[in-house]
Order: sequence, then structure tokens, then C-alpha cells
Amino acid sequence: MIKSSTKNIILIGMMGSGKSTTAKKIAEQTFLTHLDTDELISASHQKSIQDIFDAFGEKQFRDMEHKVAKNLPKENHVISTGGGMPCYHENMDVLNNNGITFYLSSPVDLLFSRLKNKKNRPLFKNQLDQLELFLNERLVYYEKAHVTIDISGKNVDQVALEIIDFVNL
Ligand code: S3P
Repeated sequence: MIKSSTKNIILIGMMGSGKSTTAKKIAEQTFLTHLDTDELISASHQKSIQDIFDAFGEKQFRDMEHKVAKNLPKENHVISTGGGMPCYHENMDVLNNNGITFYLSSPVDLLFSRLKNKKNRPLFKNQLDQLELFLNERLVYYEKAHVTIDISGKNVDQVALEIIDFVNL
């Protein structure tokens, strides 16, 4: 059923939790349009996220993220966010006011097994304990999400379906 105006679905959580692939899947199966905050930042600076970190540093990246968070469309989108976005400035409140937020929650060893040896994340140093530290520091923000979805033991299709069912689309 086509609904003229639907709240955004906003996916938050750690790197490796599958926010972008799940958001794409939700967009394929609904009339919602997918947006990814890292892609928006990359496109507006015509640089990869790695190159943005190298050229401007993390602090400026967080400022760019905040600007993107404040200017997201108000409805009819499924939005995947960068893993750190909810944890800086007052972004978690901004996101919560802009749609239904879903925290894709996962044990750290699952995240690590998905991320290990990948080189496209400037903050990931290929160390389990470092990832664990990030997760522990960030939980307080992630847990402000409207809904927590435990992704362990589920594939992308199952997670996407769970979210679609939840919002009744
Ligand atoms: C980051 C996660 C990345 C990206 C940047 C910083 C983080 O996004 O925004 O590398 O601080 O966790 P993903 O969560 O999509 O990997």
C-alpha cells in the first residue's frame, strides 16, 4: 500500500552491523528512498570517508555529520547512518526527532569478524579490544534509539523484514 507520508526509518549502530545493506533492502521492499549519511558527506566533498579523515581530521568530519543530521529529509526515507553519528553533538536527539530510530545491536565478536582485514574505515584498527571499547563508549547513545533489534543469527533479509513489520509498511 502506498502511504503519502511515512515517518523515516533511521538505522544506527556500530560499523559492521549492516546498516547500509539493511537500509538498501528495506528501500527495495517498500516505497521508501534510501539515503546513507556517509555517502552524502562523501558526495558533497567529492572524497571518500578515508580521504576526508586524512584531509580534515575526525573533528571536522563530526561537524560535517552534524550538518547532515540536521538537514535530513523529514519523511519517506530509510536512512543509514555512520557508526559514530549518534555519539557526537546532539545528533541522537536530532535523529530521534526525525523518524523512528532502530539500533542494530550485535555482539562485538560478530562485528569484528565482519570488519577484520577491511581497510575502508579510518577508525577501525583491526583490533577486537579497540572495537569493544568503541561499543562500550557508544552504547549509552545507541540505547536511546526507539527500537533495538538484535541482529545476531539473522541475515539482512530477516532484519529488514523485522523492521518493515514493526513500522507496518
Ligand atoms: C565511523 C563509522 C563509519 C564512518 C566513519 C566513522 C565510526 O560508518 O562514518 O568511518 O565512527 O564508527 P559505518 O558505520 O557505516 O562503517
